Amino acid sequence: MSRPGQIRFLSRAAPLYDPVVRMMGFPRLWRALTRHAGAGPEVRCLDVCTGTGGTALAVADAGAPVVGIDLASGMLREAERKARESSLGGRVRLVRMDARRLAFRDASFPLVTCTMALHEMSERERDTVLGEVRRVASERVLVADYRVPRTPGRSLLFRAVHAFEYLESDDFAGFAAREMSERLEAADLRVETPFDAGAYRIWPCRVSS
Ligand SMILES: C[S@@+](CC[C@H](N)C(=O)[O-])C[C@H]1O[C@@H](n2cnc3c(N)ncnc32)[C@H](O)[C@@H]1O
Repeated sequence: MSRPGQIRFLSRAAPLYDPVVRMMGFPRLWRALTRHAGAGPEVRCLDVCTGTGGTALAVADAGAPVVGIDLASGMLREAERKARESSLGGRVRLVRMDARRLAFRDASFPLVTCTMALHEMSERERDTVLGEVRRVASERVLVADYRVPRTPGRSLLFRAVHAFEYLESDDFAGFAAREMSERLEAADLRVETPFDAGAYRIWPCRVSS
């Protein structure tokens, strides 16, 4: 699927997104990342590719003011509805924006998060987005995505289970082939110890000084 087609599809399918990803265990990932993020009222957070706001709302629930950005208007509408209904609306601002061109100044957010989005992109888009994430972060970055097994048997099983991603994403094979830590370091982020939440991995990073 082409990138604009993918964003349109996500926009239209947005009301189904949460029921599906709940079954895939995303809420556990959002909570694990938030606990590790040390989010609090003083820590302004940018959630890149926020989708329906799972991570943004979990971080806001921990007290942090959050800006969530995404390209898919339908996903942002879902996030807005959830923010209103959970009374977190005052702490969460949702903006339609391309993660490849973030309209924020350098080092303007102490915390930047990006969950379950990089696997959908082409390698070039991933690198551009990570460059932007690095540019606007002043202290910490937390990235989360699929944990790709490296042993042959498990790797085969992973490919079979995630067959839909090979159709939907721009370059899932490229995503699965390269270590995320290597990508993050290439974006000038210092990777700390990654940890797992269910089928997913979280890479906490420091912004190199
Ligand atoms: C699988 S969803 C993940 C959403 C959310 N972070 C989560 O953990 O559930 C990926 C999101 O990335 C967004 N996205 C992809 N490329 C983008 C880009 N270049 N700029 C902004 N958003 C983008 C899509 O619209 C989609 O909402």
